[in-house]
Amino acid sequence: MAMSSESDHVDSQNETLEKVTSLCKRRGFIFPSAEIYGGFRSTYDYGPLGAQMLRNVKQEWWRSIVQLRDDVVGLDAAILGPPAVWAASGHLETFTDPLVDCKSCNERWREDKIDGVCPKCGSTDFTEARAFNLMFKTQAGPVEGEGATAYLRPETAQGTFTNFANVMTTSRKKPPFGIAQIGKSFRNEITPGNFVFRTREFEQMELEFFVPPADSATWYDYWVEARYEWYLRLGIPEADLRKNVAAPEDLAHYSLGTTDLEYRFPWGFDELEGVANRGDYDLSAHARASGEKLDYFDQSTGEAYTPHVIEPAAGATRAMMAFLLAAYAEDSVGGEVRALLRLHWRLAPIQVAVLPLSKKPEIEGPAREVLALLQQDFLCDFDATQSIGKRYRRQDEVGTPWCVTVDFDTLEDGCVTLRDRDSMEQVRIAIADLRVELKRRCDAA
Ligand code: GAP
Repeated sequence: MAMSSESDHVDSQNETLEKVTSLCKRRGFIFPSAEIYGGFRSTYDYGPLGAQMLRNVKQEWWRSIVQLRDDVVGLDAAILGPPAVWAASGHLETFTDPLVDCKSCNERWREDKIDGVCPKCGSTDFTEARAFNLMFKTQAGPVEGEGATAYLRPETAQGTFTNFANVMTTSRKKPPFGIAQIGKSFRNEITPGNFVFRTREFEQMELEFFVPPADSATWYDYWVEARYEWYLRLGIPEADLRKNVAAPEDLAHYSLGTTDLEYRFPWGFDELEGVANRGDYDLSAHARASGEKLDYFDQSTGEAYTPHVIEPAAGATRAMMAFLLAAYAEDSVGGEVRALLRLHWRLAPIQVAVLPLSKKPEIEGPAREVLALLQQDFLCDFDATQSIGKRYRRQDEVGTPWCVTVDFDTLEDGCVTLRDRDSMEQVRIAIADLRVELKRRCDAA
């Protein structure tokens, strides 16, 4: 029996990364940004299928965190913020990386990432480390040099803490309750890379869950488990997902404890999401700096307290990359290699493709009627060009779970062919039953 080694695994995984990156470009998931000008420094644009898939990832997070619970509400705070917020949060002082320059080849590195040797030329001669703040700084106002300094947020979390009192009062929630946000964050990363794994502009999905201090350990365990299950449910294999409890010396400045949920990326296990116990660090810091009360008055005990915060903080763009890598597969059909994305139907950018067997109006007409019927409930595509085999392959490659083919028999029997992406099984089904059957398959997935 052939044994596969760890290096075989890394090689085949790197090949998968190349294949997925190329598929993303070729099929309109993810393009290098400003490509007609030669691209722009690890910045990416999401094409038609990528924009939809990213939206689906975020929607799935929102559905499980906000829609299906009665103890979490949503928020959409501003991206631009004044220095006072970032001074209080600790980001102005501590959100820095130590930078060194190689004296031999002049390349710049993060000191904590290079093990004392320049990865480019092997020199060990570096400049003194300098602290480099990762926040993007800009000016609010039209006159250069006279506007107010503003920062692009490096995380959505602070907008949640500064709105804590507003949200608690207006939503009439009390701990334990959470505030969820999805949105863009910006970090002037020194070493962006690995496709969209680390970029300077990215999207986060963050929950700040406010709890009575005595209950924080229980809620911390609860959220680690709940978030772990979320990735499994949506298609990350158990063998490729792990919980990594951070050592005390590796904790961020605000954290009393962090568990990273890590996916086995092609270069090894790496962070998808951090679940942190932030204690009362943030609310206390903002209360001190702003002079506003950011606590909760418990009517039952007659005492006020500052809630502790459990924070599951995920990257939407990074999660999308993991879902794509995990879904990529190749099998053989009629002696030919078939590339497919085994995406969960909730993440697939196209859920049902309607394929008229012929472009003749007597077929295309009814096919468009089927399309209109299914568009009410599903993300649909309509594809009338090339052979049916080629169209199936095209849909498999972008992860479409189901194809519906309208043919000449449809005109006689009112039935269509429903084809499954993974098993390639085809069944004949009445148009009148199609919606119910597709919903049944969704529920079963
Ligand atoms: N509020 C806590 C916080 O922001 P973080 O671990 O720095 O914690 C949370 O970020 C998640 O955001 C990460 O686990 C990752 O998925 C995503 N993320 C962070 N920096 C990123 C970057 N430069 N590019 C893509 N995703 C990033």
